[in-house]
Parts: sequence; structure tokens; C-alpha cells
Amino acid sequence: MSEPLLSVSGLRVSFPGAGWRARDHEVLHGVDLRIEAGRTHGLVGGSGSGKTTLGRAILGLVPVAGGTITFDGHPIHAVGGRRRRRLSRDIQVIFQDPFTSLNPSLTIGDTLAEPLLAQHRSAREARARVAALLDAVALPADAMGRLPREFSGGQRQRIAIARALAIGPRLIVCDEPVSALDLTTQRTVLDLLQEVQRTTGVAYLFVSHDLAVVRHVSDVVSVIRRGEIVESGPAAQVTERPQHPYTRRLLLSAPVADPAAQRVRREAYRREFAGTET
Ligand SMILES: Nc1ncnc2c1ncn2[C@@H]1O[C@H](COP(=O)(O)OP(=O)(O)OP(=O)(O)O)[C@@H](O)[C@H]1O
Ligand SMILES: [Mg+2]
Repeated sequence: MSEPLLSVSGLRVSFPGAGWRARDHEVLHGVDLRIEAGRTHGLVGGSGSGKTTLGRAILGLVPVAGGTITFDGHPIHAVGGRRRRRLSRDIQVIFQDPFTSLNPSLTIGDTLAEPLLAQHRSAREARARVAALLDAVALPADAMGRLPREFSGGQRQRIAIARALAIGPRLIVCDEPVSALDLTTQRTVLDLLQEVQRTTGVAYLFVSHDLAVVRHVSDVVSVIRRGEIVESGPAAQVTERPQHPYTRRLLLSAPVADPAAQRVRREAYRREFAGTET
């Protein structure tokens, strides 16, 4: 098998416990994950299962207590300072909330130019790149001079995508990137992410609690429960023939639009999980 772009192995992350001399509280208990270049790896699990923490560990935003994270063959779980800043060229992030992830006092043009200027591109080069980025995410060129508050949630998420793409990353951690959007806007943003992947070859770690969304965009899906991966495999296999009861539960508890199908689903859930803890 070829070398993956990103490889997480035996990853453990702990947070300090609350209170005086409280014990550390481990939230990832030895997580393994591989992301291939140019592919989408979906990560699903319930609230508090550790999805965001795993993404933040990859981005170097939480300390790693054990295990390794390797990017492009190099260990990155313990790098800091200049090397970590250089890594941000390759690994970028899109957060869930488009209303807090953009600096409210910067114009869109300045927001998008910032990472380019930090890479010592000339102002002229940055300007041309910003125009190309806005075009790539289907926003009008005059967006450049406007502030985030003048845009809708879906448009802001497009801006966040443009910002993540600005310096040509190879991996983007997408943490619930469409969860705050209505269904139609979700679809256009997901289509945009896929289009971007086709044209740039960027890989995604796509975090969501929504199996339907993950199934739609992922090549591979991992299911995380209480800090452990319980199942991982090709998206179709994991979402259509789940092996682990937790995955089946996630599938059966996802809402469906059709009331008749929803009834069948509810019955199946009851049969399978009657009397068990959720
Ligand atoms: N900075 C922190 N300090 C202490 N505990 C934390 C911190 N960040 C996360 N946790 C804990 O780690 C666990 C996993 O949290 P995480 O945010 O990774 O879950 P999640 O799967 O992203 O959930 P959600 O779907 O709600 O976003 C939770 O029990 C949470 O309380
Ligand atoms: Mg989260």
C-alpha cells in the first residue's frame, strides 16, 4: 500500500482535570487513522466522542500525550515554532461556525491576502490570487472590499474555504463545515469542496456527526466513539453494511425526510437496541 499523506497512530490526548490536583482526563485513547492524498476521510461520531480534538491534534493545537502523527513521511506531533508555522502551508482548517471564524473588522480581501502576504508574496501577486480564489468559490470580485457581516452564513463558509485554499494546502481539516447551514446551502458548499478537490488534489479530514453528509463526500469513513475508532473502511461499506453496533445505531438514529421510511427506521432501531444504553 502506498504511503498515506497523513498517518495517525496510537494517538492519545489528555486534558487537565478540573480542580486542585485533579487527574488528567484522557479523551483520545490510541486512535489510528490514515488519509490518502487527494481523498476525503470522513470522521463520524456522537457529541463529545473526540472528533474536534483529533482534528486539533493534527493541526498542532492540542498537545499529544502518546502515539504519532506523520505527514508526508515526517513526524509532526511534536513540532513547534517555525516548523509548525511552515506546516500550516500544507495543513489548513475550516471550522463549523462561519460567524465567528472570520475576523469581523477585516475586509474579505484583507482576510484572504493575509496568509499570502505572510508567505512574502507581493501585494500585486496577492491581489491576483485573491481574485482567483473568490472566483473559485463563486463569489463576486467586489466581495473583496466588503466585511464579513455583509455576507450570509453560506457565503461566509465559502470565504472560509477560500482562505483555507489560499496557499495551496494538501490537507484541510473540515470540522463540521456545513452543520450550521440550511440543507440547500449545505449541498452547494459540499459540491464546492468536491470541485476544489478535483481541481487541486487537496485531501480532507471531514468531521461530522451527520452520517448522510459524510457518506455523500467521503472515500473512507472512520467511526469514533468515546475516543476510540470502532470501525473504519470504504464509505459505502461502513455506511451501508456497518459492522459495529455503534455505527448501526448512528445510522438508524439519523433522521430521514420520508415519514414512512422514518417509521421503518424507528422500528428497526427499537428491535436492535431495545433496552440497551445509548
Ligand atoms: N480544551 C479542553 N479541555 C478539557 N476538555 C476538553 C477540551 N476540549 C475537549 N474536551 C473534552 O474532550 C472530549 C471530546 O471533545 P470534542 O470536542 O473533541 O468532541 P466532538 O466529537 O468534537 O463533539 P461535538 O460533536 O459536540 O463537536 C469531551 O469530553 C470534551 O469535554
Ligand atoms: Mg466538535
